[in-house]
Amino acid sequence: MITETVIIVGQGYVGLPLAMRAVDAGYDVTGFDLDQPRVDALADGTSFVEDVPDAVVAAALASGRYRAVTSLKGIERFDVAVITVPTPLRDGAPDLSFIDDAGRALAPLVTAGATVVLESTTYPGTTQERLAPLLEAGSGLVAGADFHLGYSPERIDPGNPTWTLVNTPKVVSGIDAASLAKVEAFYGSIVDTTVPVSSPKEAELTKLLENTFRHVNIALVNELAVFAHDLGIDLWEAIDAASTKPFGYLRFTPGPGVGGHCLPVDPSYLSWEVRRTLGQSFRFVELANDVNDHMPDYVVQRLVLALNEQRKSVRGARILLLGVSFKRNVGDWRESPSHRVANLLVELGADLVAADPHVDPARFPAGTAPVDATASELAAADAVVLLVDHDAFDRDLIVGESRYVLDTRAWLPAAPHVERL
Ligand SMILES: NC(=O)c1ccc[n+]([C@@H]2O[C@H](COP(=O)([O-])OP(=O)(O)OC[C@H]3O[C@@H](n4cnc5c(N)ncnc54)[C@H](O)[C@@H]3O)[C@@H](O)[C@H]2O)c1
Repeated sequence: MITETVIIVGQGYVGLPLAMRAVDAGYDVTGFDLDQPRVDALADGTSFVEDVPDAVVAAALASGRYRAVTSLKGIERFDVAVITVPTPLRDGAPDLSFIDDAGRALAPLVTAGATVVLESTTYPGTTQERLAPLLEAGSGLVAGADFHLGYSPERIDPGNPTWTLVNTPKVVSGIDAASLAKVEAFYGSIVDTTVPVSSPKEAELTKLLENTFRHVNIALVNELAVFAHDLGIDLWEAIDAASTKPFGYLRFTPGPGVGGHCLPVDPSYLSWEVRRTLGQSFRFVELANDVNDHMPDYVVQRLVLALNEQRKSVRGARILLLGVSFKRNVGDWRESPSHRVANLLVELGADLVAADPHVDPARFPAGTAPVDATASELAAADAVVLLVDHDAFDRDLIVGESRYVLDTRAWLPAAPHVERL
């Protein structure tokens, strides 16, 4: 039987699934988050993360081995603490203030033999150079000698039913052999496969490499999409054909831009670090940012041309956006390219409406009126833009009722009035 206590700092898209899994594995888990409404909802058995059903939170609470709190008061120690707080960009530079705050909150509770793991995505060196001194200062103990410290990047893919926290291999690291052994033992008890690397810096770089790889390859097909359209060649057909190659090719598809908490942010952590320490620019990242950031403008440009064909201007045209989240079948709207698309269309004077069954209408882009993707709304729109291919949308209805559709995901059946990006 496991008797260890775990504190997970941050109960968001990463922290909550981890907390639930740790409870399942037998740990006594405290989920610490500063967001009072979020904690109240969790304490009430309500989850805001699609992949964690309410029933799972309710079962965790009922087990007596999970509680959500906004303060660590009353807790004297822990065996394992995992930090899963946000790491956004502020004015183009990494904002590590959330990690700093989490480190300061945990430090007084660090006791001899305890283990602290950072999971937040960040630039190489953060665990050893930034977190360790904070934990040492607040505890009076020495990382490595007295307590264990490591880094383990999260690979969670919200909305992915195949690859979950449990069956996705988890990269683990420690600042020394004893730390690695502790970190590996903890994750070994909650996931199927652990992948040890030699130090936190390699683990931190692994995460940035994975996301930069994705970011750059998406930029490649996005740039190609623009050229292929102008050349009159069907890029989607070429992508399908290339994807039949059993080796040396990985399928990436164009879209209206990149969004979410990772792709628009993480590669810049790497380029910032390269510039800061080596004084050089990471050209691939900067180029990919440039191409991907431009995609919402390209979507609007294509819409302007399509309306022009109908002898219409964007001003006064009724435009229906289908999907405002950053990817299919999830309600996460952060950094979604739909916001930039909407802003541009509002500036041009469009009568803008949007439908997204996964996103709270309060989170829709400014200037958009929330509607449902009904036959009458589709028919009433001068142009429909499919930004996200949620399964909840009815493909045949969209094609059957709309006058014109710009399909940025190549998800709809072919029809004369349906254009792909
Ligand atoms: N969402 C993903 O798919 C994903 C995947 C891999 C890695 N990551 C990385 O994991 C980290 C967390 O991402 P997320 O999507 O879970 O973020 P999130 O915003 O969903 O959750 C973070 C939570 O931390 C809380 N928080 C902030 N500061 C705190 C503090 N000092 N003490 C306690 N709680 C605090 C916030 O209130 C929030 O609820 C980021 O670094 C992100 O880049 C995210």
